[in-house]
Amino acid sequence: MNKNRTSESNSESLNPLQHRTILLGVSGGIAAYKACDLASMLRRAGAEVHAVLTPNAKEFVTPLSLMTMTRNTVHCSQFSFDGQWRPEHIELAKKADLVLIAPATADLLAKLANGICDDLLTTMVLATRAQVMLAPAMNPQMLEHPATQNNLAILQNRYRYEIIPSEIGEVACGDWGAGKMASLETIMATVGARLSSHRTLNGRQLLVTAGGTREPIDPVRFIGNRSSGKMGIAMADAAHARGADVTLVSTVEVDRPYPVILVETAFEMQEAVETEFDNCDALVMTAAVADFRPISVSEQKIKKTESEDIVLELTKNPDILDLLGRVKRKDQIIIGFAAESEALFTHATEKLRRKNLDVIVGNDITVPDIGFGSDDNAVIILTVDGGRENLSRMPKRAIAEHLCDILLGRFTALESPKVTK
Ligand code: C5P
Repeated sequence: MNKNRTSESNSESLNPLQHRTILLGVSGGIAAYKACDLASMLRRAGAEVHAVLTPNAKEFVTPLSLMTMTRNTVHCSQFSFDGQWRPEHIELAKKADLVLIAPATADLLAKLANGICDDLLTTMVLATRAQVMLAPAMNPQMLEHPATQNNLAILQNRYRYEIIPSEIGEVACGDWGAGKMASLETIMATVGARLSSHRTLNGRQLLVTAGGTREPIDPVRFIGNRSSGKMGIAMADAAHARGADVTLVSTVEVDRPYPVILVETAFEMQEAVETEFDNCDALVMTAAVADFRPISVSEQKIKKTESEDIVLELTKNPDILDLLGRVKRKDQIIIGFAAESEALFTHATEKLRRKNLDVIVGNDITVPDIGFGSDDNAVIILTVDGGRENLSRMPKRAIAEHLCDILLGRFTALESPKVTK
């Protein structure tokens, strides 16, 4: 943490970058030329910026330009000697509040995903405990390549680095597609959001459900749905990163630093959620729970019969959200989800009321490429007090961050005046 930082000062609440130390890593892609503007914007927002260039980055932008913009020495070599027994760059890696790498090339992502540290920047990333944020920029084919996608997944899911997604547009080589570095405004906003100490969910107990339930028909078959669990996992990750005590009830197996209760059926999910509900401050029910299950589950695999048809009798599953909406305390918040194929606003509004929710997140499942299985979604968010927001296509993690902000606002509102249990 930077020594100059006074805790929770007024200026900081208005400007989360004030007095923060940011390591600005620049790797060797054409978007490196934007690093000068970014450095200047960060510095003018009050941050202490130290630029670190990879050898290839120096082909696109000079240390002199970045030194002028940051008003600090620019670091380029692992082997430079500054007369100190402890190298300055390791000191910097330790005291940084945030490491921001913009642009992050495919090569840099591959190195970081594999712990390679053969230059100053990658060494500093390994040496820091600060949050690492990456703004990838590259040719769309390179971004789409499974190797790059795999590296991004490792960096995001295993190392918890925050990826600032690249944008769709015309890239430097003339190709069109995803791969353009996020705009400097988006990068600044994401950095500000990350550094804002007022966005903390410290001490809040959050119960999140994720994935689609599976209702067995026989030992090999089940009734399932297309939910990938990505939204719920993004929600749990975002809340955990903000200090909440998260419990995830999931049908998808994930390795996380918070408790994950693995379930399969709606009944198992109901049991887990009901057990945890009393202790939670908020329930975020993103799971796609099967509305029906087979009346009876065959102990043996159902064989092909002579007849062409087979009749599967179904019965209704409990509506977990509906049940908990009836018993929730005044100090608890419930967020539900509504995946709709028509009349999104009408159906979501009706569910918000009927299930006694505080917030409902609705998405139109007929829109191609987003929603089920995708990393992105576009949603409407309705609140019990009549609030309505449209979030256009964005990563599920960004939607989760927004929901964390909504939760924060509602927790704050609950506390003044204090609501008794
Ligand atoms: O009524 P509908 O299934 O569209 O409602 C969706 C919301 O209700 C989601 O938040 C989902 O997690 C929850 N739900 C539930 N139990 C069910 C079905 C849905 O909790 N049996």
